[in-house]
Amino acid sequence: MSDEVELVILEDAGEVAAAVAERLARAARDGGQIALTGGRTPEQAYEEAAQREPDWSKTEIWWSDERCVPPDDDLSNYALAKRTLLDRLERNPHAVHRIKGELGKEKAAADYEHELGDTVFDVELLGIGKDGHVASLFPNAPTLHERKRVLPAEPGLEPFVDRVTLSIPTLNSAREIVFAVSGADKANAVHRAFASKPGPDTPASLVRARDGRTIAILDRAAAAKLRA
Ligand code: 6PG
Repeated sequence: MSDEVELVILEDAGEVAAAVAERLARAARDGGQIALTGGRTPEQAYEEAAQREPDWSKTEIWWSDERCVPPDDDLSNYALAKRTLLDRLERNPHAVHRIKGELGKEKAAADYEHELGDTVFDVELLGIGKDGHVASLFPNAPTLHERKRVLPAEPGLEPFVDRVTLSIPTLNSAREIVFAVSGADKANAVHRAFASKPGPDTPASLVRARDGRTIAILDRAAAAKLRA
């Protein structure tokens, strides 16, 4: 496993969104399996990615985690990507594999595990929570030790709804992991994720592409404690 993380430090959240959008647009052109994330950070990146490359017909889209809500709920990670990315494309992805959170965490996780099979993501986009969580893997949660590919999970932070998440081994099997993080409230988590000893109190520190690249695209505020 490569523990090396390529750090890309940009001026502000807008530049982070633009860099992530460019990476997604390139992935769409190349075609392949792309895993999206939820959270506030990717919204602008998704909108820009759809503008830069409106043809996603060579891709299949997946998610790294989902909240157990209906697909049109404001809290749904699928709804976020639909509104900001999928609905703006000229050519839809070849397949859109959403996690069916409305089925409840156990059933949704089992269904998604079946659908996922042994798929390997070409690009996997991830955020980091201010507590250091990644996907829906929260600090010191029992899910961090699970080997299954997809797991039902408890929330460790708002919004407090059940989750479904990819496990650490699944996240680490991606060919390219792209973390996108901006904002001063993430500086501590970013330091723990990329410049401290990895451990279960910071799930993002355990996520590194086993046989590929791990890239962290950060703004100055989020990267502020990296050299401290
Ligand atoms: C989710 C996300 C989650 C997110 C981080 C960062 O379902 O909430 O997948 O892991 O990436 O919480 O979120 P922000 O970008 O909103 O800070």
